[in-house]
Amino acid sequence: MNFQLTEEHLAVQEAAREFAQTELLPGVIDRDTEAKFPADQVKKMGELGFMGMMVDPAYGGGGMDTISYVIAMEELSKIDASASVCMSVNNSLVCWGLEKYGTAEQKQKYLSKLASGEKIGAFCLSEPEAGSDATSQRTRAELKGDHYLLNGTKNWITNGSSASIYLVIAQTDPSKGHKGISVFIVEKGWEGFVIGKKEDKLGIRGSDTHSLLFTDVKVPLENRIGDEGFGFTFAMETLNGGRLGIAAQALGIASGAYELALKYSKERSAFGKPISQHQAIQFKLADMAVQIEAARLLVYKAAWIKDQGEEYAQASAMAKLYASEVAMQVTIEAVQIHGGYGYVKVYHVERLMRDAKITQIYEGTSEIQRIVISRGVLK
Ligand code: CAA
Repeated sequence: MNFQLTEEHLAVQEAAREFAQTELLPGVIDRDTEAKFPADQVKKMGELGFMGMMVDPAYGGGGMDTISYVIAMEELSKIDASASVCMSVNNSLVCWGLEKYGTAEQKQKYLSKLASGEKIGAFCLSEPEAGSDATSQRTRAELKGDHYLLNGTKNWITNGSSASIYLVIAQTDPSKGHKGISVFIVEKGWEGFVIGKKEDKLGIRGSDTHSLLFTDVKVPLENRIGDEGFGFTFAMETLNGGRLGIAAQALGIASGAYELALKYSKERSAFGKPISQHQAIQFKLADMAVQIEAARLLVYKAAWIKDQGEEYAQASAMAKLYASEVAMQVTIEAVQIHGGYGYVKVYHVERLMRDAKITQIYEGTSEIQRIVISRGVLK
């Protein structure tokens, strides 16, 4: 067992840390206030290789391992979780499935652009009445010779308006339940495809979350990924990796808040000494440090299991469940340590606290993670 990061991992960490400080930190509060998508920053993330880190270099990716990916996600999320969720969705929910299950033509046409960050991807599973209950898809894709006609509505879609390439899950045979679900590549701008309402969110406000409306959208047959009926398995497998990205995001949000609280506790004095010298604060910092370390071990271990080519659904669900709960608890304590200053925007921790909440909800709520974990435990 070796807990040391390699030279390559340390280089990724350093590059991500520097990018976060120099490119993401400036303007992050304004982007949150204005709910402004970090378009320039995401473009630079693509140029630096953060948008397709694990994709084969033959398709414009970085060819890196999952540990590198979670390290980068952690560093970027310390500063800007709105930028990092865009990265996570593009890497885990879009590039991964396309690379694993796409045809050579699909990869040539779409993956290269996504992995290089030239284009952004979105993953469209959730619907107004199919969130946790993902098998209840209402969106229909009907085969009409050489194409499908796609009809329905998707909800809560990350990168909803900034994306150009969408992986859309839809029912192709409702009589078969989850085995009648398929997955399609849909391009922005196709007739009948409308970007709907943008959500006004509590946190990750820079991330553009939209509903999407499909009315008789003509999707060529060659844009189906895998066989008819493969869509639900595709979505579940993709989400196993997505959950790992969000676990790393939660870890980053927690670490970011902890680092700010630690620094503040040494600078702020009360009752004649820095507040870090009061046991009330020391105990909080100790608990935060332990929780973050435990979350990091779960996240890195799940990434390592994936890199070994072993089954990682349970490990990634454990990492996401725990890291997201740690993110919530640690950010609340970071606000508390800052006192009144923690409640205003300029100290960043209130934003991190708002951002933390979504990690317990998206890519499967904490309750869904418990379902996945308990199924593994009881197997
Ligand atoms: N990995 C691989 N396969 C899985 C799986 C997993 N984690 N979970 C289920 N499956 C497979 C099952 O093995 C089963 O396959 P077979 O029929 O071939 O045996 C099939 O999927 C159906 O499984 P279940 O019968 O268990 O289905 P279920 O209806 O009981 O529920 C669920 C399964 C785990 C609750 C699932 O519906 C689920 O994960 N729901 C949450 C969906 C989710 O995470 N949504 C997030 C939206 S995406 C998002 O947030 C993106 C964004 O923009 C940020």
